[in-house]
Amino acid sequence: MIWELSIVSSSVLLGVVAAFSLFLLRRHKASALPYPPGPNATSMVGYDPWVQYQRWGKEYGELVYIQDRNMLIINHSHVAIDLLEKRARIYSDRPTTPLMNLFGSSSILSLMRYSPQWRYHRRLFQQNFRQAAAPRFFPVQYSKIHEFLYDLITAPEMFMQHVMAVSQKLIHSSLYGLDIGLEHPLSIKAVEAVELIGESLVPGTFPLLERFPLLWFMPSWFPGCGFKKRAEKCRGIIQAVDNIPYEMAVNNFKNGLGTSLLAELAAASEGKPEKIEAIKSMGTVSFLAAADTTMSAISSFLLCMCLNPEVQRKGQEELDRVVGRDRLPTFEDRHSLPYIESIYRELMRLNPSAPLGVSHTSIDDDTYRGYFIPKGSYLSEILEAINRDPDVYYEPDKFIPERYLESEKGPFGSINDIYAFGFGRRVCAGRYVAENTVWLTIASVLATITLGRAKDENGNEIDIPEEYTNGFFRHPKPYQSSIVPRTPLAKDLILAAVSKKE
Ligand code: HEM
Repeated sequence: MIWELSIVSSSVLLGVVAAFSLFLLRRHKASALPYPPGPNATSMVGYDPWVQYQRWGKEYGELVYIQDRNMLIINHSHVAIDLLEKRARIYSDRPTTPLMNLFGSSSILSLMRYSPQWRYHRRLFQQNFRQAAAPRFFPVQYSKIHEFLYDLITAPEMFMQHVMAVSQKLIHSSLYGLDIGLEHPLSIKAVEAVELIGESLVPGTFPLLERFPLLWFMPSWFPGCGFKKRAEKCRGIIQAVDNIPYEMAVNNFKNGLGTSLLAELAAASEGKPEKIEAIKSMGTVSFLAAADTTMSAISSFLLCMCLNPEVQRKGQEELDRVVGRDRLPTFEDRHSLPYIESIYRELMRLNPSAPLGVSHTSIDDDTYRGYFIPKGSYLSEILEAINRDPDVYYEPDKFIPERYLESEKGPFGSINDIYAFGFGRRVCAGRYVAENTVWLTIASVLATITLGRAKDENGNEIDIPEEYTNGFFRHPKPYQSSIVPRTPLAKDLILAAVSKKE
């Protein structure tokens, strides 16, 4: 018996030793391969990221590796698909830092590690935001986008504020059933949460801490420890944004004052605290992930129409021909409007809301195209560069919707081909709903409003600088425009849609 046992344990031991040796050999072989080519991080100081990354792409080829940052820059869709999608098991983690943990931002789905907790939260998100669930959001999308049209024609000079308002209202209304504007304390808190979380993500926000890591161990009142107070504030705000609108939604539901997605989910999950926490968090994440991205897409659309009057004219002509002038477009019209679809696709290509994407990290060593990619690498999907790859798109910096009409796939291709939503298992979890919002906004605005350059007192057109902000999310910098109803009938349609009379 003892003898048998020792044979078994020796063979188990041998097996383990063999497997370990094989692992070491493979790792040695893999790590004997060169790293992909690339510059040093020192040359990144004071850079303008997407310009710099694209430049390096031209210099070093399709893989750019910044060795002392362990960072791989992805400038091409085929590399993103090969790594982030086909090898998703390895490349679906997210980078976290002690600062993110301190601020509480690493517990947010979009920033969470690739873990059972992520899977749990992502599943809940998927169940409620998948393609088949998207029609649930239609009534709110119609109502808020029609209000947006009304705001545009009644106070056109405040168009940027209207874009921000519609992007936020869509979330508060569709998830919590709350009809609140930009000035509501809850909206203000949610925006503050976005800012504070941003502080924990952007390197260099707390330079003293970076220079003197010992500050980690000092109390929050100690000079240079302001980051601890900011972190405490951030955690408090995340908690408030998790709880306050959720409780309002649940109370409204219980008191018969209105239903909402979150209240219904909560009612079906009574007695399951883990699920309730995930439901609350889904509301917060929706706001954090949707407000700025949606705002970026809609504001870029308005700018593109001011700059491309011929595209606008063609879009309006298609809408007049297919939908007519006596009603507003609906989702049922979508597949009859190939040019509007092409405008939508071109918008998402040329102006991805998050031009640098959201980094993934790898959980294993890997080899690719003869190069070694070590475990723990940061993979930066540069959506701006991927979407302007000259090998894929002719005249990539120009707004040309016709490219989709001319292409083999046509404009009604898969949502997976819209790289503005990212790649692999971490691809945007709200993309079907986001896509419907952006599409309906494009169709509704073009059906009723004409956008163009504003004129000065002498009747000369005022130039639009066509500049974008340089942050994590891309927004057009302020500019002046002309926003007018296309016809008196179009104006009546808008007024009727929001039940307002002249
Ligand atoms: C035009 C609008 C939007 C754009 C361009 C956009 C884009 C993105 C991108 C680039 C990512 C990262 C993908 C990656 O890591 O590869 C992402 C993640 C995410 N998005 Fe969106 N998004 C939009 C709207 C929305 C909306 C409306 C929601 C939900 C209400 C949403 C929820 C999320 C979530 C939860 C994640 C994190 C997924 C994860 O890490 O597992 N997004 N989005």
